[in-house]
Amino acid sequence: MTSTSATITIDPAFEIGQIDPRIYGSFIEHLGRAVYGGIYEPGHPDADEHGCRSDVLAIVRELDVPVVRYPGGNFVSGYNWEDGVGPVEERPIRLDLAWKTTETNAFGTNEFMQWCQAAQTEPMMAVNLGTRGIDAARNLVEYCNHPGGTYWSDLRRAHGHADPHAVRTWCLGNEMDGPWQMGQKTAAEYGRVAAEAAKLMRLVDPSIELVAAGSSNSMMATYPQWEETILDHLYDVVDFVALHTYYTLSDNDIPTFLAQSLHMEDQIRTVAAVCDVVKAKKRSKKEMLLSFDEWNVWYHNRESDKVSMRERPWEVAPPLAEEAYTMVDALLVGLMLMTLLRNANRVRMACLAQLVNVLAPIMTETGGGSWRNTIFYPYLHAARFGQGRSLRAVVQSPTYACAEFDAVPILDAHATLDDETGALTIFAVNRSQTDTLELAGTLRSSAELEVVEQITLANADPYATNSAAFPLTVAPRRVEGARIERGKLSATLPPLSWNVLRLKQVPA
Ligand code: AHR
Repeated sequence: MTSTSATITIDPAFEIGQIDPRIYGSFIEHLGRAVYGGIYEPGHPDADEHGCRSDVLAIVRELDVPVVRYPGGNFVSGYNWEDGVGPVEERPIRLDLAWKTTETNAFGTNEFMQWCQAAQTEPMMAVNLGTRGIDAARNLVEYCNHPGGTYWSDLRRAHGHADPHAVRTWCLGNEMDGPWQMGQKTAAEYGRVAAEAAKLMRLVDPSIELVAAGSSNSMMATYPQWEETILDHLYDVVDFVALHTYYTLSDNDIPTFLAQSLHMEDQIRTVAAVCDVVKAKKRSKKEMLLSFDEWNVWYHNRESDKVSMRERPWEVAPPLAEEAYTMVDALLVGLMLMTLLRNANRVRMACLAQLVNVLAPIMTETGGGSWRNTIFYPYLHAARFGQGRSLRAVVQSPTYACAEFDAVPILDAHATLDDETGALTIFAVNRSQTDTLELAGTLRSSAELEVVEQITLANADPYATNSAAFPLTVAPRRVEGARIERGKLSATLPPLSWNVLRLKQVPA
């Protein structure tokens, strides 16, 4: 095996900003088996008293997910939230036109709030600005957040929830620019209705924070004009603009695939720049924050996903978008996490889309067990160790050219420093398919540092996956050899690897 080398310099002064833990959020949509057969399966041997799978809850808690977006996604644009509350036997069965499935409504808002409590996470709710509008949106806020003594809040109490759910974060619709969206809108139409929804929702509960639906992705013809137009209407009334992106490996072109984090970086900078243009136009003092509330790898490669919606029968919770993520998918997820960290000053919320079974780090068998997809691990490591301050790592690395980019660094690295614990963490990906990477780091620190451990995720097969039968094919391992001598770090990063170098300050 050949080897190459790269250097990094880390200095506490290279601060990007404080990391908001909410950048490690996730997403549960009424899509495929995310809810039914995923987080909720009454009758499963591990179901709790509310019908939620405790095996899944335990894995979600392991991730320490700070916030979970719900109930969609495209689903929300046709959802009547009232269908999902009250006695289950009285709830209507509906056609979900977003995913051509039959929605039983057995799981709804209150079940989700109960699940969030059990999962030790916060809900992030989306309102339907597709087939519904400002009235349904303000009623849902009243149902969830008003203490009592009004029609909707008393209905919640009658449904067994005396205390308000106190939902802090609300998304104003989802991907409203997309032709696939129920109730698609022009930017001006969306800007107006979202502004009115925001006004009424905040009149019900002034403490909430609001997320405007940005472009569905950066390939949309209306991107980024969409952002500018909607913000002309919404700048003063929302706190965040949403960004979404999914990447696919095409033609087994791993070098181009692993360069997609540069594309994500460009998307963040572009949307931030548009926000700043509107800020200047409005002579506003407020900085618009970004919520990257859908991001992941997505192949559309399951047999069931290849069948067109028209050919598929109407079914309850068919398996959809169930990815057996590979080793290289985990690397891109790690690279995307570093991209979020690199923009931690602006990206204050993000949701890996999604959490269970659908585009997910956690997989289940209906009636059976659960396991961790490859992408689970970089997500776990970033959420667990990537806290505190985000520090830019100055990287000097050989580069490669690929189909979309001229100079992609073989090494991508980023650092975080937790001032409370003194923990300094370096995340690093070696993009080379052939070469081991010898990493040399200069660590500028007032205190002496020592290596706690190096955790590495690597596999000789870039397409290795985990499954119910082989759940640990791609799993992290502790690697020996990383050391610090006189402020100089050295470590070896295997080809196509995700690495976590955990350092700590030596007590004086
Ligand atoms: O996460 C899956 C889908 O991707 C969501 O429903 C939609 O918002 C996006 O297009």
